[in-house]
Amino acid sequence: MNANTLSQDFGIEPSADLKNILMEYAKINKNYTAAIREVKTKLEILDDDFQLLHKHNPIHHMESRVKSPESILEKLTRKGYDLDLNHISKQLLDIGGIRVICHYVDDIYTVAQLLKKQDDITVIREIDYIKNPKPNGYRSLHLVVEVPVFFVNRVEKIPVEVQIRTMAMDFWASLEHQLRYKAEGEIPKFIADELKECSENIADSDLQMQKIHSFLEDLDKFTPK
Ligand code: GTP
Ligand code: MG
Repeated sequence: MNANTLSQDFGIEPSADLKNILMEYAKINKNYTAAIREVKTKLEILDDDFQLLHKHNPIHHMESRVKSPESILEKLTRKGYDLDLNHISKQLLDIGGIRVICHYVDDIYTVAQLLKKQDDITVIREIDYIKNPKPNGYRSLHLVVEVPVFFVNRVEKIPVEVQIRTMAMDFWASLEHQLRYKAEGEIPKFIADELKECSENIADSDLQMQKIHSFLEDLDKFTPK
């Protein structure tokens, strides 16, 4: 929704401040949506080409979002950052986010490598929560990449956070997020312990599934067609 819609559709005349804020968020939303589309298209192309070459899709599916105004404000306040619109994109690297859900652990690193090596991509942050899981058991590979977006009269490099994880890791993260939301932050210890155990079981299963899949791929390679 923008300020024009407010006055045209609802007969509300916004103050100059409100109008500015709405217009600014509309701009943020448009720019980050464009950057997400660029990166998502790259990932879709990689997935299609990988399927053609190796008869396997590394990506199961993707989800994406532009951070809501409420979440932007919450994070700026929580981290003690400047509440200045001009600094937002330098301080918050996850305004545009893509979650890439893969089948197997090797797929995560394949997708990350293929994206990172592209000439127009700049990696500005990489955290491997698979090799080094968070103490609560959270696992995922996090990248922040900058991609150039060509607008009518300018080119802007815009950061996008890419979280890459297996279906099993995603299953765990969704439940943990839901629990944390319900518990308003602090998850009771007995549940946290159980979650941690689930995360370890999931990591073991992911590795077992990977082994079976790799075995199948090797079999395919050596079976005459
Ligand atoms: P945020 O302020 O949460 O964005 O963290 P950050 O900018 O310091 O980066 P971090 O890499 O820790 O987390 C970025 C994002 O990863 C979060 O917004 C979540 O989507 C996801 N994430 C990180 N840690 C956890 C976790 O413990 N549980 C779940 N469910 N998701 C997590
Ligand atoms: Mg975040």
